Amino acid sequence: MLRRVFMVSVMVSIAVAAAIGTVSRVWADGDAAPVDYTTISPLDLVNKTPKGKLVNPYKDTQEDIVAQGAKLLQSYSCSGCHGGSGGGGMCPPLTNDTWVYGGDDDTIFRLVTLGSDGLQKAGYMRKGRENVVGPMPPFGAIIKNADDLWKIFAFVRSKYNGDPAYKFGAPDAPPEPANP
Ligand code: HEC
Repeated sequence: MLRRVFMVSVMVSIAVAAAIGTVSRVWADGDAAPVDYTTISPLDLVNKTPKGKLVNPYKDTQEDIVAQGAKLLQSYSCSGCHGGSGGGGMCPPLTNDTWVYGGDDDTIFRLVTLGSDGLQKAGYMRKGRENVVGPMPPFGAIIKNADDLWKIFAFVRSKYNGDPAYKFGAPDAPPEPANP
């Protein structure tokens, strides 16, 4: 009896060792080590990630994440300019289908991190126009980590109220703003 328990535990250890071996091999073979969004600043993440490759790890259907994002939007005072639900205030709405530079995860992450001026210096062009035209300030050094910013965007996406086809932007033909 005792001997069987011993055998089982040996087999479990072998299985665990094999699993660990597999994980480290995957990392070694992958093109990039996995990034821990909770410890990297938005600015460092932007600087180390090739253009077009930033993707939100969260979905706007994750209620707990969306709720945290709503609080973060307030705490980083995005709401002061964009309204409490991102629906627009003195600055453009984040929830409609007009995207100033593009509506994909990569572009909006870079816009908030670098600000309008920084984004344009990085080679991005204004594609759409909202009622309010002014610079978005750079938040890359203010937002504690990339995870906070992804949660904010999960919340913003959950409030989207535009044409579903434009939720993540329309690279070729952005819609005209309702009131030019
Ligand atoms: C001082 C006011 C102000 C604050 C604070 C602010 N923004 Fe903005 N934001 C703007 C303006 C103005 C624009 C339009 C930029 C342009 O036209 O170049 C903008 C644009 C954006 C856009 C693109 C919207 C679109 O339709 O394409 C997003 C996304 C955004 N802001 C998110 C945020 C988030 C998230 C925060 C908080 C971390 C934030 N903003 C804080 C003023 C602000």
